Amino acid sequence: MDLKALLGQMTLEEKIGQLIQLSADFFGESTELTGPAQSWGLSIEELSSIGTCIGGKNAAEIRKIQEEHLKIDRNKIPLIFMRDIIHGYRTVYPIGLGLVGSFDPELVGECTEMAAKEAAAGGLHLTFAPMVDLVRDARWGRVMESCGEDPLLASTMGAAQVKAFQGEDISSRDHLAACVKHFAAYGAGESGRDYNSVEISERTLRQFYLPSYKACIDAGVKMLMPSFNDMNGIPSTANPFLMKRILRDEWHYDGAVISDWAAIWELTVHGVAADMKEAARLAFENGCHIEMLSSAYYKHLAELVREGVITEEAVDDAVMHVLRLKDELGLFDDPFHQADDARGEAMYLSPEHREVARRASEESAVLLKNDGTLPFSEDVKKVAIVGPFADEQAMIGPWSALGKTEEAVSVTSGVRALLPNAEISVHKACGYLFDELDKSGFADAIEAAKNADAVIICVGEPAHYSGEGNSRTDIGLPGVQADLVNEITAVNKNSAVLIFNGRPLALSNIYKNAPAILDMWFPGSEGGNAAAALLFGRANPCGKLAMTFPRAVGQCPIYYNRMLTGRPKKGPEEVYKPFTSGYLDCGNLPLFFFGEGLSYTTFEYNAMTLDTHELDEKGSIKVTVSLTNTGERAGKEVVQLYLRDKASSAVRPIQELIAFKKITLEANESAEVCFEITEPMLRFWNAQNEYISEAGEFELFVGYADHRYISDEFTLVK
Ligand code: GLC
Repeated sequence: MDLKALLGQMTLEEKIGQLIQLSADFFGESTELTGPAQSWGLSIEELSSIGTCIGGKNAAEIRKIQEEHLKIDRNKIPLIFMRDIIHGYRTVYPIGLGLVGSFDPELVGECTEMAAKEAAAGGLHLTFAPMVDLVRDARWGRVMESCGEDPLLASTMGAAQVKAFQGEDISSRDHLAACVKHFAAYGAGESGRDYNSVEISERTLRQFYLPSYKACIDAGVKMLMPSFNDMNGIPSTANPFLMKRILRDEWHYDGAVISDWAAIWELTVHGVAADMKEAARLAFENGCHIEMLSSAYYKHLAELVREGVITEEAVDDAVMHVLRLKDELGLFDDPFHQADDARGEAMYLSPEHREVARRASEESAVLLKNDGTLPFSEDVKKVAIVGPFADEQAMIGPWSALGKTEEAVSVTSGVRALLPNAEISVHKACGYLFDELDKSGFADAIEAAKNADAVIICVGEPAHYSGEGNSRTDIGLPGVQADLVNEITAVNKNSAVLIFNGRPLALSNIYKNAPAILDMWFPGSEGGNAAAALLFGRANPCGKLAMTFPRAVGQCPIYYNRMLTGRPKKGPEEVYKPFTSGYLDCGNLPLFFFGEGLSYTTFEYNAMTLDTHELDEKGSIKVTVSLTNTGERAGKEVVQLYLRDKASSAVRPIQELIAFKKITLEANESAEVCFEITEPMLRFWNAQNEYISEAGEFELFVGYADHRYISDEFTLVK
């Protein structure tokens, strides 16, 4: 398509139409104006020039909207259809925070490719994913869709999703364009409250929060979405430091940029724009090409051009970003992108896709505690499944696109399928909402637990307690669920607790009494089958935490790559030490650590060897880690390599993950895992905001946050 010629035939109003995104309900099933379009006062002519659409429930609806649109668009420019495909389209896999805990980029890619295939069949062209906001505060509801608290893990998993969504060619019928979000530091909102202000130093921003967005841009992401929050006083949507200095001047990103939902209008709410005209100017001048669902561009951009405030060349440049994306998507050749509901229905929840979802759920689950109770024997005769999630299918999480609760496998269904001859009783016992304090169901559950060979206690938070806009000040188990766990485990020690959650929960009040705790996250369509396989040993847990679990919400924000401070606590964590950095009523250390996760087998780290202990800027150090599976069954282990810079011109974290590898070992099998250290891996942002390495001593260790199995040291010489 000759895009320049196409642009040349467009009027200014038609060009501006390409910069507006409306939702599917604006387009209706024919060219009549629907409620929203009428409420905006849109004419058919204006509606005909709109460039992109958010939503579309299936291929049939999207095809219909596209057909009607092409009938009335003078320039015959197809719409791009976009939607949030965050952890599955119809076959739902674990939420991001769980899936990245698999520490398996290939598995993340497999799930993402599956979602892309399903969504493309359903008519979509672009997804508002991956979400790679670094997260450190479990009070924030959107940690559930993130890639966790570590820059390397978030970068690796964000890039894996971009490549899997987009493939080699976004015009293929099995791929989507991706949109990295939310740029930037949305996860650093004060008090863990969604949309809240972010005050952050440039050094911290660059060191911890920016790498994951950059990794997605380096992976070729086609679109970027600025975040709702103001950062250091300027909302990201109109923040020249982010949108120009970092994104364009330093990173040379030349893809499209779309606002978040009505975020341009929100500039008037933040108070940095006196009115919508000012909001339009600010967002446009800072490089926001498409306005999602607010009317600043539609009402004021042409006026700003006519007043000479914005040049038509600048509008042309913005429009070309949209037209190029449409061309890359192949929409000028096939406006329907081979959308096909029949092809989709053949894939949705197919055995193959369910297998991917179940495997992902198994590999995302994290065994947080196990006194040997797990795995249960498959020979059990009587199983009691208790708690509000015992037979709950609502475990597919808050961003599950077209996923259907009724298509999800509950724990009870999964256990029944695995143990067809066992006597299985189900006892909900209580609710999972804050105000569900009724314990009248306890007695029945306790009685059943007393007489059972194995008890599965299914507790957690409901999906709508996490996700967008859903922050919590108390991150414990809502209602009386903790009491249920403690009263059940008091009568039967052959009990295991399953946790269903969108965020790290404060589990200190059940930790001591629970013989075993398996965190399932919101596991998706196959959650019950995965839980059953893990509980009864058909699968061996291998997930690790991608985000720290606090002992108490008062520790938030809490994260593994913390600074030591000048007065660190020493000695046992629980002991208060005067005039040290700690609390009177709680230790500093979390209940569960980033990178933590148990297995049904054990791994012993035998040695770490370095081929040299002196590194220069041109060289490398080969690090060889040997470990053995010292248990009686095969298992997967994530070998995590951490670095500590022992002295530097700026304060550095007490440990930083610099590499990881996941391996499978048979019982008694040993292996050597090799890593290579080079000087760029030692670089950091110094006080002058230069990205540099400094000569000096470094410590390396394998283990997980705060738990060093084996370590060694080396020197960087310059
Ligand atoms: C929401 C979210 C964003 C999403 C967009 C479109 O407000 O912040 O993540 O992509 O709107 O649904």
